[in-house]
Amino acid sequence: MADFGELGEKLAGIRNEIAEELIKIKDSKSVYEYRKSVMDGKTGKVGSLMREMGKIPAEMKAEYGKRVNEMKNWVQERFEEIDARLKAEEMRRRYESEKIDVTMPSKKREHGNLHPNTLVRNQIVDIFGSMGFDIYEGTEIETDYYNFTALNTPQDHPARDMQDTFYLSPEFLLRTQTSAGQIHVMEAKQPPIKIISPGKVFRSDDDATHSPMFTQMEGLVVDKGITLCDLKGMLDVFVQKIFGENTKTRLRPSYFPFTEPSVEVDVSCFQCGGCGCRLCKGTGWIEVLGAGVVNKKVLEGCGIDSDVYSGFAFGIGIERIAMLKYGINNIKLLFGSDLRVLSQLDD
Ligand code: DAH
Repeated sequence: MADFGELGEKLAGIRNEIAEELIKIKDSKSVYEYRKSVMDGKTGKVGSLMREMGKIPAEMKAEYGKRVNEMKNWVQERFEEIDARLKAEEMRRRYESEKIDVTMPSKKREHGNLHPNTLVRNQIVDIFGSMGFDIYEGTEIETDYYNFTALNTPQDHPARDMQDTFYLSPEFLLRTQTSAGQIHVMEAKQPPIKIISPGKVFRSDDDATHSPMFTQMEGLVVDKGITLCDLKGMLDVFVQKIFGENTKTRLRPSYFPFTEPSVEVDVSCFQCGGCGCRLCKGTGWIEVLGAGVVNKKVLEGCGIDSDVYSGFAFGIGIERIAMLKYGINNIKLLFGSDLRVLSQLDD
C-alpha cells in the first residue's frame, strides 16, 4: 500500500457498500446475518482488514491500525443503530397484530344443566341421606307378587283398579309403584330399616299431569315403637327443606292397601303462604304425597313380628314435586327434551 490516500479510498468504498446494503435490509435477523459476514475475521470486508497488517510498511502500521479501528467503530455504530430501529419496528408490528380488544363480547359457551327431575331427586336423596336413610334401588320389571300381592293387594282386590298396569305376562309386569321395593328390603333384612327407593314406575295413564312413565321415591322406616307421629315429624323437616322454612304439613285420611292408617299429605301453599291462589286452587294447601303406618299384614308377610315392630312408609312423585317447584303445568314439558324449556329449570 503506497499511501493513505489509497487506503482511504478503499475504506470509503467499503463504507459506501455497507451503507447501501444496509438500506436494503428490512429485518433485524438480516442485520445480524450481514454483520456476521462483514465482521468475519477471515472473509469479512471489515473483519479481514487487520489481517493485512503484515503487508503494511512499519512506519504506517500505527496509522493503519487506527483507521481500521475507526472503521470498525463506525460499522459497529451503524449496525447497532439500524438493528435498534428495525427491532422497535418489529415490536410495534407485533403488538399491533396481537392486540386484544377486551371490550369485545365473548363467544357464548353453551353448557348443559341437570334435568329438573334429576335436580329434585338429588335434593330429596340429600335430605333423607342426611337423616340417615339408605338407598335401595329396585328393578323396573317386577312380579305381580311384589308389586301387588305382598303389598296386601291380592288378585281380586279392588285397589288394583287404582293403577292401570302394563303386564308383560300373567306373572311379570312393569312396576306401577316403588312400594314393591319395600317387600324386597323387608324380606332381606330384619329391622331397624330406614331406606328410600327412587326409580321409574309405569302406568297406562296419559294426560296433562300423568305420564305412562314417571318417577317415584319410596320411603320406609321399620323399628320398635314407630308411630304416625314419627312420620309427621320427619315430613315436617322434609317439606321445609324442599319448599321453604315456613311450610306446614297436614295429614288427611286416605286409603292404601299396604298402610293402615293411610294418609294423604298436604303442604301449606308455598306460593301464597296459605291465603289461596291459583296454584293451590284457592284452598291454601297442596297435596304432595301418600303415606301411612305399614299394614301389619305386610310386615308379617315379610317375616317381621308386628307385635314387636311397626313402621311408616311414604311415596313421593318426583315429577309432581318438580312441577310444583318450577311452576310447570304439563308433565309433557318435563319429558319433551326441549332445551328451551329445560335450560331454564336449572336451579
Ligand atoms: N304407592 C303409592 C302410589 O303409587 C304411593 C304410596 C302411598 C306409597 C302410601 C307409600 C305409602 O309407601 O305408604 O300411589
